[in-house]
Formats: sequence, C-alpha cells, structure tokens
Amino acid sequence: MRITKSFAETRAASLGTVGLVPTMGFLHEGHLSLITAARQASDTVVMSMFVNPLQFDRDDDLVRYPRDLERDVELATAAGADIVFAPELEEMYPQEQFTRVIVNQLSDELEGPNRPGHFEGVATVVAKLLAGIQPDRSFFGRKDAQQLAIVRRMATDLSMPGEIVGVPIVREADGLALSSRNVFLSAEERAAALALSRGLMRAADLAGGGEREGSALSAAVHNEVGDSLEVEYVTLAGQDLVQPLETLDRPAFLALAAWAGETRLIDNIHFDSDEFVADRGTRLTERSVLYGTGEI
Ligand code: PAF
Repeated sequence: MRITKSFAETRAASLGTVGLVPTMGFLHEGHLSLITAARQASDTVVMSMFVNPLQFDRDDDLVRYPRDLERDVELATAAGADIVFAPELEEMYPQEQFTRVIVNQLSDELEGPNRPGHFEGVATVVAKLLAGIQPDRSFFGRKDAQQLAIVRRMATDLSMPGEIVGVPIVREADGLALSSRNVFLSAEERAAALALSRGLMRAADLAGGGEREGSALSAAVHNEVGDSLEVEYVTLAGQDLVQPLETLDRPAFLALAAWAGETRLIDNIHFDSDEFVADRGTRLTERSVLYGTGEI
C-alpha cells in the first residue's frame, strides 16, 4: 500500500489498468465493496480520500464530517487497494477554482433543490480526479443514485475516456443503508431510520407484484415512515436523466431523503430490467466497521 499526495505521484505509481474509487474517507463496507469491484477489473486500485469543501452546502456539515486517515488506510489496504490518494486542499485546489462543471437538468430534481451547489461541487471534483488520475474505470455506489447519473452524463458529455461503473448499495444487517453519517445517529434515531429501508423493501415487493404507479410506490414508503422522521422527498426517477416518473416504465430508481434528528439520510432501490426486479442492495451479516467495537 502506498499513500500518495499528488496527482503526478499517483499516476507514476499506477501500473497497467487503473481502477479509481473516489471517496471522502471514513470508510464503511459500501466503500470496501467498491474496492472489491475495482480489484476484479483493474491491475492497480487507487482509492482517493478527500473531503471536498466544494460540495458541502452547509458549513456545519463540512466541519462535522468524520475523518480518520489512519483507520481508512488500514481498511483500504485490507480490502485490496494499492494506492490511497489523500491530497491536501492545495493539491486539489492550488488556486481559486474559476472552472466549475455543471450538469444541467440531471441536477434539478431530488437532491438538487435541497442542496444548492452540491452537484456542481461533486462534478467538478470528480472531473479533476478523472483528469488527474486518468483511470480506465471509476467505481461509484448506487446509494448516491443521482450522483452516479450525473457523473456518467458528465463523462459522456465531456468525452472523458474510461468507464463509470455503478455498484449496489450495501446495507447493515437490519436494512439501514451504510453511510459514514450513520455514526451520528442516536439509538432512537437509528431505530426510527429503519422505517426507510422497510418502506423501500415494501415498494420493491409491490413492484414485483406488478405495481407500476410511482405514487403507489412512494406511498408505500410514506406509510411505513409515518411521522417518525421528517421526509424531504420520496420520488421515482429515471436512471439516465433523473426525471420524476409517474409510471415505472423504464430503468428507474425510487429515491428518498429524510432527517433523523440532525442527520440527513438518503436511500433508494433501483429497477433495472424489463421485469423491474428491484436491486435492493446487499446486507452485511456482521456489525459494520463503522462502529468499531460495541453494539449497534
Ligand atoms: O460520493 C462521495 O463520497 C463524493 O461525492 C465523491 C464522489 C468522492 C466526490 O467528492
């Protein structure tokens, strides 16, 4: 395992085909599954760890974001990464960043209105990572479904070489989608948050039984959550353009955002095939590395 700080050093250390796993650190099994996917498809696996200030719409969220490089390097090494690229702010943004990447339309719905500037920050930093590291493939979690769609579209629109690969969500054993932010949940908030994945699984069952109305799928989630959490949205959207859909008639995802206390959570299920069998993600059988020692 090698830790690099500059793009030039990372490129020089990357031999053969390169798989990039972009992260903001504080790894969990969702990130580790991206390394596994990258490992299978690449000679060199580079995991980037950079908490990108450009994509935070709230200063308190940026300050509060968990960071632990030593822990992350240990986990990334055990999972099979060859290089951890952990740049300082000066490497990523050596001067005032005049250039921004804006992916129109795909940023307008779902997370867009709730997090102004967020996707501009994501697209800009991912464009810099792709330009600076020049990977053959880059691996992104399906948990951030809108981010994945935006990155794919950006790469196509800007003729960026290399493939963008989406990898299924990893859930904790009881269904909660893994997120670095889960460490902020109190026991009560965490228990309430489980209604989100239960609602999505109910919607997946309904779709499996032939339900195609977006409103009925969303209602399944709302019914499960009730008023136990503050729900921002539950929306059925197309996988390519992230446009809200009335009917499940093309590859889509049912996405939600909700607040558990001070913590904002997102989750989704994807519908891929003609039969719209849901990708519900995978589940851990053991306690997540997120929690160190102690019970969930
Ligand atoms: O998904 C994330 O962790 C971030 O948005 C990403 C893609 C690493 C860009 O900072």
